[in-house]
Amino acid sequence: PFVTVKEILQDARKGSYAVGAFNTNNMEIVQAIVEAAVEENSPVILQASQGALKYAGIEYITAMVKAAAEIAPIPIALHLDHGTSFEQIVKCIRYGFTSVMIDGSKYPLEENIRITKKVVEIAGAVGVSVEAELGKIGGTEDDISVSEKEAYMTDPQEAVRFVKETGVDSLAIAIGTAHGPYKGEPKLDFDRLEKISSLVDIPLVLHGASGVPEDSIRKAVERGICKINIDTDIRQAFARAVREFLEKNPKEYDPRKILGPAKEEMKKVIREKIRLFGSSGKG
Ligand code: G3H
Ligand code: 13P
Ligand code: ZN
Ligand code: NA
Repeated sequence: PFVTVKEILQDARKGSYAVGAFNTNNMEIVQAIVEAAVEENSPVILQASQGALKYAGIEYITAMVKAAAEIAPIPIALHLDHGTSFEQIVKCIRYGFTSVMIDGSKYPLEENIRITKKVVEIAGAVGVSVEAELGKIGGTEDDISVSEKEAYMTDPQEAVRFVKETGVDSLAIAIGTAHGPYKGEPKLDFDRLEKISSLVDIPLVLHGASGVPEDSIRKAVERGICKINIDTDIRQAFARAVREFLEKNPKEYDPRKILGPAKEEMKKVIREKIRLFGSSGKG
């Protein structure tokens, strides 16, 4: 069934596990996510970025996810990832997204609070929950120094103020992860996470989780992370499988033959994540 992100995260918080929020932009990825979650009997969040909606069309994305939610015997929610445009956010709400992210992290604190509050007001009026970002979760390609990295991390006291003033439902925090594949091993600031967790009583979200070692993920979940975003690991599984298949079968031209194995490889990755996050059997 189609449920709200809020319900999913409330249960996760109570049960001390995290739920995967997997990025999608086509049918095979939707199917891989949903089939993996069904096989693990786990709740799951499908999320689309503004770029994904531009690529696939908001009509296709919402129709596919709702169709999946009708068939599948597990809680499924649809979320806008890294919304930066107010118009896009309103459009997603109109199309039935149960949760949206307003990413004001590139702005100074006051401005981030102002735009987040505005989204909370309109989304709250129709029962849609809002995720915001405090601190900067960059990309692994961003050329930043160690001291800059520190400065970009979420300040616990600012988090208290941000949550109080905006009334946001969940918060993405910067504790050392980055979007995309890592060059070395990412070092997460668990003390910072513990501090924020102890001061703020809404679900916390970990972005850039592809490539983070399993042990770090477990520690993050133990310390209050309830939603974990995964994109790159799925994309890489997809690309690996397509390349391998076409190398072995250079004459094949049937999309079903080419994409079928890719879907299976994505499913494997997603099932492993779901087990790692602790949401298996919670569907
Ligand atoms: O955090 C960003 C997600 O990985 C989506 O990336 O904007 O390329 O769709 P995208
Ligand atoms: P990764 O691509 O590193 O998994 O990050 C995904 C993400 O944070 C989407 O918002
Ligand atoms: Zn992200
Ligand atoms: Na990453």
